[in-house]
Amino acid sequence: MNKVEVINAYPFLLNGEWKDSTSERTIEIESPSGAETPGVQAMTESEVNAAVTGAKDAQKNWARKSFAERAQLLYAWADELLLMKDEIAETIMKEVGKGFASAEKEVVRTADFITYTAEEGKRLHGELINGGSFNSGSANKFALVNRNPVGVVLAISPFNYPVNLAAAKIAPALIGGNAVVFKPATQGALSGTLMIKALDMAGLPSGLVNLVTGKGSEIGDHLITHPQIDLINFTGGSETGKSISQKAAMVPVILELGGKDPAIVLEDADLDKAAADIVSGGYSYSGQRCTAIKRVLVQDEKADALVANIKDKMDSLKIGAPEDNADVTPLISSKAADYVTGLIDNAIEKGANVVSGNHREGNLIYPTLLDGVTTDMKIAWEEPFGPVIPVLRVKNVDEAISIANESEYGLQASIFTKNMEQAIQIGHELEVGSVQVNGKTERGPDHFPFLGVKSSGVGVQGIRKGIESMTREKVTVLNMTQG
Ligand code: G3H
Repeated sequence: MNKVEVINAYPFLLNGEWKDSTSERTIEIESPSGAETPGVQAMTESEVNAAVTGAKDAQKNWARKSFAERAQLLYAWADELLLMKDEIAETIMKEVGKGFASAEKEVVRTADFITYTAEEGKRLHGELINGGSFNSGSANKFALVNRNPVGVVLAISPFNYPVNLAAAKIAPALIGGNAVVFKPATQGALSGTLMIKALDMAGLPSGLVNLVTGKGSEIGDHLITHPQIDLINFTGGSETGKSISQKAAMVPVILELGGKDPAIVLEDADLDKAAADIVSGGYSYSGQRCTAIKRVLVQDEKADALVANIKDKMDSLKIGAPEDNADVTPLISSKAADYVTGLIDNAIEKGANVVSGNHREGNLIYPTLLDGVTTDMKIAWEEPFGPVIPVLRVKNVDEAISIANESEYGLQASIFTKNMEQAIQIGHELEVGSVQVNGKTERGPDHFPFLGVKSSGVGVQGIRKGIESMTREKVTVLNMTQG
């Protein structure tokens, strides 16, 4: 392995070598908290081509390795990540403004994810189907169904979990026998680079994972339409996801996109539990999570009590700098903060009440709770990706379901009630990937299937499902001679 030399900009990994771009251009990373950070390389199209073709070549050998051999690389990667935990957590903290303790948790969760993926890969097995089970079939035929790699996976990760959501694509792809071209979000690319450094230290074969850095607006289309990319696994905004899906044409995509997850609070709910989950589900990491609770639909009878309870619990949120482990920290960019402010202003203009918050210092937006939100306000439908929760009061369960389903998104939903039968019934009617009964919306534990419907995504992830989604079935039919 070549040593990673970082002066002003991190190098990228191309076919086993850490390099600076021949473009001689670097991209600055703007820290939300104003911390000093290095930049990353602005790679050229020809370097991107070399990354894809190098991965294509490396994949052939990798696919021949046994699951146990592939698992060894993943175990070693998890170990290296843990050894680099502090350095990576500090980089996450500076680069994307996440509290240090949460950043550390992200690294540990990622190591756990990778180890579990190695284990799960070793448990993958195919099946044998008897031809004679079909009326007009033949008892002399057997289908052996196995899972084969798809080839080169393009993994594009978002800023908010720059390590976890990157490894959640790379590890399942690798155990399945694929090579990976990894393109981190520009803000997140430093953490992503360190994560790849850990993989390189673990003994990554040359070219098996190539790291591509640069502006999505400059090299994104070139990458996603590259003829040697066999599958695209993207996490990020719904607009970008839709555009990738159109441009990818016949190339399969896995998309984890936005959400507008409702917390539906029924009249028999444990309000204390619901309020606690709404506060932690809605405001942690400043609401910059696809699975954050992004609206509350509460039955009229309990609305006053719930709002008061949420407001009380908001007092314990720590607001400030990521270095101080605050829950609510400056948003990723001024553009993101302006967007959130615009949604709050629009709601207030249309008559929403500010129960708490609506205060901004630079990109730091104080946790904001809006009551009396109605369906003509943008905040009822749009995804703020910031620390603001709108409360919509509903007459009954049917109205809650109807407003929940009117959203263009369909990631998750929470239902708070003591009536399990009713919860299951409502869950059936909600157009979402997952329903949480008496709990906040969230992706983990990471071995649960994770998916969104409508504008929230395509395909299924979660460790086992992720491996399945990035491999394809191969059927070998044995035609036996009658003996
Ligand atoms: O931002 C999207 C993530 O998949 C959310 O993950 O529920 O663990 O925060 P999380």
